Amino acid sequence: MDVRWSFLCNFVLFIICLFHNTATFKQEGVCFFPERWEGTWFQSGVRQPIIIEGPRLSSKGRCIASEGDKFLVVDEKSCYRCVVIHEKHENVLQYKETYCYGKESLLTLCSSITGDALLYSMFRENAAPISCPFRGPFTFTYNRGDGECRSPVSSIDTCTEDSRLLLSYQACPDIHSSESTVEELQCLAVWKEGSSRYLVGKVHHSHATSNEDRFRCFVYEKASVASEALDGIEFRVAQSGDATCNGLFSATEGSRTMTLKRASSLNKCRFPLWLANYNHWHTLDYSVTYSFHHRNSTLRITNSSGLEMKVVCAQTRHSTRDETSVMLLTHYTMGCQSGFTCMVFYRRDNNVMEVQAGAQTKRLEDACSTPYFNRATVPYITLVTATPESRECPYVGKFAVRSLIKGGRRTRSSTHNRQVEMYHFRQNYHVDRHSKTFYGEVDHIIRTKRVDRFSDCDNEGFSNLIVGCSSADIMEFRSECPTSDFITSYSCHGGWEENGTHYLIATPISRSPHGARRYCFIYREYDPYLLLFSSSSDNCDRSLKPGVTGDLIFNATIIGKCVDISNTSVRNQFHWTMNIIPLLNLIIAVVFSYIQR
Ligand SMILES: *[C@@H]1O[C@H](CO)[C@@H](O)[C@H](O)[C@H]1NC(C)=O
Ligand SMILES: *[C@@H]1O[C@H](CO)[C@@H](O)[C@H](O)[C@H]1NC(C)=O
Ligand SMILES: *[C@@H]1O[C@H](CO)[C@@H](O)[C@H](O)[C@H]1NC(C)=O
Ligand SMILES: *[C@@H]1O[C@H](CO)[C@@H](O)[C@H](O)[C@H]1NC(C)=O
Ligand SMILES: *[C@@H]1O[C@H](CO)[C@@H](O)[C@H](O)[C@H]1NC(C)=O
Repeated sequence: MDVRWSFLCNFVLFIICLFHNTATFKQEGVCFFPERWEGTWFQSGVRQPIIIEGPRLSSKGRCIASEGDKFLVVDEKSCYRCVVIHEKHENVLQYKETYCYGKESLLTLCSSITGDALLYSMFRENAAPISCPFRGPFTFTYNRGDGECRSPVSSIDTCTEDSRLLLSYQACPDIHSSESTVEELQCLAVWKEGSSRYLVGKVHHSHATSNEDRFRCFVYEKASVASEALDGIEFRVAQSGDATCNGLFSATEGSRTMTLKRASSLNKCRFPLWLANYNHWHTLDYSVTYSFHHRNSTLRITNSSGLEMKVVCAQTRHSTRDETSVMLLTHYTMGCQSGFTCMVFYRRDNNVMEVQAGAQTKRLEDACSTPYFNRATVPYITLVTATPESRECPYVGKFAVRSLIKGGRRTRSSTHNRQVEMYHFRQNYHVDRHSKTFYGEVDHIIRTKRVDRFSDCDNEGFSNLIVGCSSADIMEFRSECPTSDFITSYSCHGGWEENGTHYLIATPISRSPHGARRYCFIYREYDPYLLLFSSSSDNCDRSLKPGVTGDLIFNATIIGKCVDISNTSVRNQFHWTMNIIPLLNLIIAVVFSYIQR
């Protein structure tokens, strides 16, 4: 070999040695446990929580050398031990360890661990739950050692979260150890070992008060499709008797064994397409969201505190031919509580719907009948899609607003002084009841009183309501105060009528301090010239009397049709008309008297 080659070889070896030495050096000093193991762990029989942090493994001491899953740890009393840790899941560590020895090398110490050494399990405290490997509903039989409790059959229901199951154990008269209890299982870890599948979970029930009572290990197996077809059994599950996985080897031996059969699903119908076509619906104040999942068969209702109710369609009770209203018997799950409730959905417009939900009951037969559901008394919840289309507003025209009352109180600006600004009209307007448009012309205008028009103005002294003039889908409140050009505009999204009362859903659009929310305007024709309004900010409340009760109350008198207001403000036109007509009258009167003479 060439000398240069030999030199290069030595150099490479030197580098390798250097690296190796550095590695060895690290092993002798301090070593760290994997970062993802850091945290607080529970181990059965150990009173204090076990903490893994950096090189520290709680009471066992600190790590001074490691290789793969083997760790050499030493405590303050110079007790050296080898700990072999297997990560089964991010929430479960299992380990074997040696006794205390004097200073030894990692490998020597670790080789003294025999195959039959005790295996300890550590479960992460405050672990993030995982989806359970089986989802209800199931029926099951169980055995606690003295016979199978088959009748009555027990049941497993899925909770709102996939990570929880509700196990309802029944007591069998012939089985001594059987007991009627309800346990909630929260799944925390699953892993596979050989042919066995393991599950670790926390079991919550009235007698479980400590981690020692709550942590349980399970072995489960899923039956093959063929065997399931034969006896209907889908899963076999064995549960540990304590907070360890010791002694659990198969799904048929354990402190408690269970045999799970799939129960017939309660999800038997679909929500109508017009409803499920939009994934999300919101209440007017955006505090609650209704969303559709799983191919339109599941409805999730979430409020701002994150509380969630899952609803599936169990039975269609009644549907109008055009599907504008459907009555559904639904099964709900809230947390791990479940039951039935009757719901009626009303399609009000493309992007507007209402729902009535009855009281909750455990019995399917009860849900849609009184006292659980009564169409006449159950409140309506108004829902709108996230980005509703705008629609033409009804009652297009210009109105004088009288006595605007906010939040049940009169606003200062809209009191008496404001009213005297209004003029009385003799009108031959009439309402076309189909198109909700005003027809006709102003005949004559009589000014009744003249007062200081602008006294008592403030920013919200609305006096005009302009509907559908600047744009067919816009409704605007305008102030006549010269110092303020405050306009509150609403975009209309559609509405409906019930026995002469109209409901209109609108979103504030201009300079609104209200953020994302919508309003329901409720109004009634008092006479062909007067509309009584109320608005409500949570629901289209049926108990509100337009013009009398509501969040915003006012009466609106028709004062004219839309004229082209895109060039000049309505106010200017209004006053122009005000001033010119008496003048015209005067001229005409003068001309007439001249002719007559
Ligand atoms: C669910 O609704 C969507 C519309 O959002 C529709 O395209 C789909 O066909 C529906 N799925 C089923 C299974 O009805
Ligand atoms: C959410 O719903 C629950 C149950 O209906 C209720 O107790 C809670 O107050 C609601 N939270 C909010 C913020 O509305
Ligand atoms: C409308 O009024 C009639 C008669 O007063 C009543 O029978 C009906 O239930 C009312 N409809 C609604 C939707 O309020
Ligand atoms: C609106 O008019 C109705 C009928 O005249 C009346 O009962 C009601 O008090 C009025 N409301 C307001 C806010 O002026
Ligand atoms: C505004 O008025 C002018 C003439 O006064 C006219 O040319 C223009 O088209 C008008 N604008 C609109 C939007 O109607």
